[in-house]
Amino acid sequence: MSSETPSKTAKLTIGDTTIELPVLEGSEGEIAIDIRNLRNQTGAITYDPGFGNTGSCLSNITYLDGEKGILRYAGYPIEQLAEQSNFLEVSWLLIHQSLPTKQELAEFHREITYHTMVHEDLKRFFGSMPKTGHPMAICAATVGALSTFYQDVKYDDPEDQRWEAAVRLLAKMPTIAAYSYKHSKGQPFMYPQNDLSYPENIMHLMFATPCEPYEPDPVIARALDLLLILHADHEQNCSTSTVRTVGSSQANLFASVSAGISALWGPLHGGANQKVIEMLISIRDGDRSAKDFMNLAKDKSSGVRLMGFGHRVYKNYDPRARILKKSCDEVLARMGTKNPLLEIAKELEEIALNDEYFIERKLYPNVDFYSGIIYQALGIPIDMFTVFFALGRMPGWIAQWLEFHRDADARIMRPRQVYTGERERNYVPVDKR
Ligand code: ACO
Repeated sequence: MSSETPSKTAKLTIGDTTIELPVLEGSEGEIAIDIRNLRNQTGAITYDPGFGNTGSCLSNITYLDGEKGILRYAGYPIEQLAEQSNFLEVSWLLIHQSLPTKQELAEFHREITYHTMVHEDLKRFFGSMPKTGHPMAICAATVGALSTFYQDVKYDDPEDQRWEAAVRLLAKMPTIAAYSYKHSKGQPFMYPQNDLSYPENIMHLMFATPCEPYEPDPVIARALDLLLILHADHEQNCSTSTVRTVGSSQANLFASVSAGISALWGPLHGGANQKVIEMLISIRDGDRSAKDFMNLAKDKSSGVRLMGFGHRVYKNYDPRARILKKSCDEVLARMGTKNPLLEIAKELEEIALNDEYFIERKLYPNVDFYSGIIYQALGIPIDMFTVFFALGRMPGWIAQWLEFHRDADARIMRPRQVYTGERERNYVPVDKR
C-alpha cells in the first residue's frame, strides 16, 4: 500500500469551496480518505470522538475485518496460527511480518531466554508496593521503571538499540508479571529457568517455590501458549494506540508500554476479562439469575453491561472468542474438571444471541468472554487475568511501536478539538466575584 499514489479521489464541498482529497486503498481493499491537507485547504477539521472512523497510520502488522469476523497476523489467519504456531514464533512474525527461518527462531529463542532475569535491585521495587495493590498497577510501574535500569545508549544504530529494548521487554515481562503475584502472596521470587519454553517458564515463575521441584504441566503450557497467541495483537485498539501515542513523543519503549498496560487495565478494554468472571460468579452465587442479569444489561439506566460482549470493530463473532470457547471445553475435559461458570457463560451467550437488543446492535462475545474460564482452570488468580492479557499483547505493542519509528509519515500524535467553552472575557479579581 502506498500513500504516494492514490488511484481515486474524494470531493468535499464546504460552503463555496470544493476540494479533492486523495483516497488510499489498503491491501485488502479498505479505503481511506487522506485528510492530511484538509485544514490547510479549508480551515476545517474532522470530528470523530472515539476515533471510530479515523485511521491513525498505515500498518503491515494485523488485518481484521469486523463484519466478517476475520483476524490475520501479517496475512496468516489466527485459526492457523492458534493451531500450528507458538507464541515466540508469532511474536517474531508480528515484529518482522514474516515467519522466521529455523535458525532465526532458534536465535530469537536464545536471545529471549538470556534476558529473562531482572536486575536484583528491581526486585526491591516490588517490596515498596502494598501486597493488596492490583498487579496491573504494579506491572505498569515496574515496566516504566525498566527505563531507569536500561538507559544506556550503547549502539550507533537506533534500530539496534530499539531491538535490544524489545527483546528485554518481551523476555522480562513474564518475570515481572509473576513477581507481582509472588509479592501479593508473600512468596519468594523464583529465578527463570533457561531449559523451559516461554509458557512453561511463566508457569514456573508463578507457581514454583524453592521448597520442592516443580514440573510445568504440558497441557497447561499449551493452553497458555494459545491464549498468548490469541492476544498477541489487535491493530489500533485503545492500549496499542496509547503505546503509539506515547512513543510518538520519542518516549522510550518501556515508558510507552507502561502507558499501554495502564490503558489495557480499564474494564472496557482488557480489564473486561476479570469483570466477566466476577459477573459469572455473582450469577453462580445467586445474586441474580442469568435472565435477570440480561434484563439489567439491556436497561441503560442500570449502568450494567454484559461484560465480554460487544466490540468497537467486530460486528460478528470475534474469531478469538470462537477458538477460546472450543478450547474451554477441551482444557476442562483434559484436566478432568468441570466449571459451572462455563455453563452460565454459555447460557448468557444463548440468551444474547437470540435477543433483539443484542441482535440489533450486533453484540457478540469478544475475546474476554471465555478467556477467564481457561485462566481459572490453569490456576491463574482472577486479578492476574488482565496481566496475562498484557503478557500476550506485548509483541503487538512492541511491533506497533517499532513500526511507528520506521514510518516516514509518522509525526507526534496531536489531535485537534472543537472548542465549545466561553468566548473571550475579562479576568475578575477574587474579591470582586
Ligand atoms: N452490554 C449491553 N449493551 C451494550 C454492550 C454490552 N456489553 N456493549 C455495547 N452495548 C450497547 C450500547 O449501550 C449501545 O447501545 P445504544 O446504541 O442503544 O446506545 C450500543 O450497544 C453500542 O455500544 P457502544 O458503547 O457505543 O460501542 P463502542 O464501540 O463504543 O464500545 C465496547 C465497545 C466498549 C467494547 C462495548 O461493547 C462494551 O462496553 N462491552 C463490554 C466491555 C467489554 O467486554 N470490553 C472488552 C472489549 S474487547 C477488548 O478490549 C479486549
